[in-house]
Amino acid sequence: MARVVVTGGVGFIGYHLTRALLARGDDVVVVDDFSDAPYPAARKRRNEADLVREFPSLRVVHGCVTDRAALEPLCAGATLVVHLAALAGVRPSFAAPARYARVNVEGTATAFELAREAGCTRFVFASSSSVYGNSTPLPAHEDAPAVQPESPYAASKRGSELIASSLCRRAPETTCAALRFFTVYGPRQRPEMAITRFARAILAGRPITVFGDGSMRRDFTHVDDIVRGVLAAAERAPAGFRPYNLGSGSPVDLHTLVKMLGEAAGIAPVVERAPQPVGDVDATFADVARARAELGWEPRVTLREGLETVVRWVRDNP
Ligand SMILES: NC(=O)c1ccc[n+]([C@@H]2O[C@H](COP(=O)([O-])OP(=O)(O)OC[C@H]3O[C@@H](n4cnc5c(N)ncnc54)[C@H](O)[C@@H]3O)[C@@H](O)[C@H]2O)c1
Repeated sequence: MARVVVTGGVGFIGYHLTRALLARGDDVVVVDDFSDAPYPAARKRRNEADLVREFPSLRVVHGCVTDRAALEPLCAGATLVVHLAALAGVRPSFAAPARYARVNVEGTATAFELAREAGCTRFVFASSSSVYGNSTPLPAHEDAPAVQPESPYAASKRGSELIASSLCRRAPETTCAALRFFTVYGPRQRPEMAITRFARAILAGRPITVFGDGSMRRDFTHVDDIVRGVLAAAERAPAGFRPYNLGSGSPVDLHTLVKMLGEAAGIAPVVERAPQPVGDVDATFADVARARAELGWEPRVTLREGLETVVRWVRDNP
């Protein structure tokens, strides 16, 4: 039985990952600060309550990932640390760049350092497709330089990678996989993210606001594929620092997304336009050859199937 620490384990992706770890019999401790950023803590409390109801053995600790004293005892005996805690979201990062830097960069450095000190040699953490910015040729490959982040959030994720890779050079026996998630969606998605926002509006008969001219492309990736990718990296990633793209590898533009979401809901969407926000990249598109070859990972959930899971979730949870 693995002993796993999951930071950010009651967030959107954290909920699904924690559930998968518990379902296979792992001993899991979640650390989360239950903050109201970037969305109300009530959703995190609900995720916690649902997890604990299903798996009463789960331990959830309220704490901040930059707090060494809180984190240190939890890492003792851990065989795997999955670090998901972060301030997520491109747009809000412009209003709080210092906070993003502290939580995301210092949080990653702290979690990695404590995992190492506790003798845990497997560390997997959430990076982001946003590290590629607008200047990386698509499909984006992990060896691209990724030196022009378009937002403080993207910079904080790239900064986290660089800190982790520098620490890893001094501890080459440690596995440190930086998983670059591409726009993740599914049940319990963060409420401010496009697919869930759109689904709620369509089902309530409200117009949806699409940013830009609708040509923005995203490599939408279902959370079930992300969870399988995290588990595969935890098991198979080699020693040393290694980034992996976890994306569907099939980007669609927002026009197509809205049309498909309307089809999944059985309701024709009404669209309003708003200017494209600062910091949003034009397109994301993952080259997933490395994850396929080294982790044996493959995205499996089609966008059509995935959107149906969101529509069902939103219908059942108005
Ligand atoms: N959802 C996506 O599309 C996406 C894409 C790329 C990367 N990511 C990354 O994946 C991870 C999970 O994202 P998510 O969408 O589930 O977001 P989320 O906000 O639902 O989850 C993050 C969790 O971290 C917790 N957290 C925040 N600051 C903390 C702190 N200081 N100490 C302890 N816990 C803290 C939050 O309370 C939350 O529960 C994040 O690192 C995010 O940047 C997500």
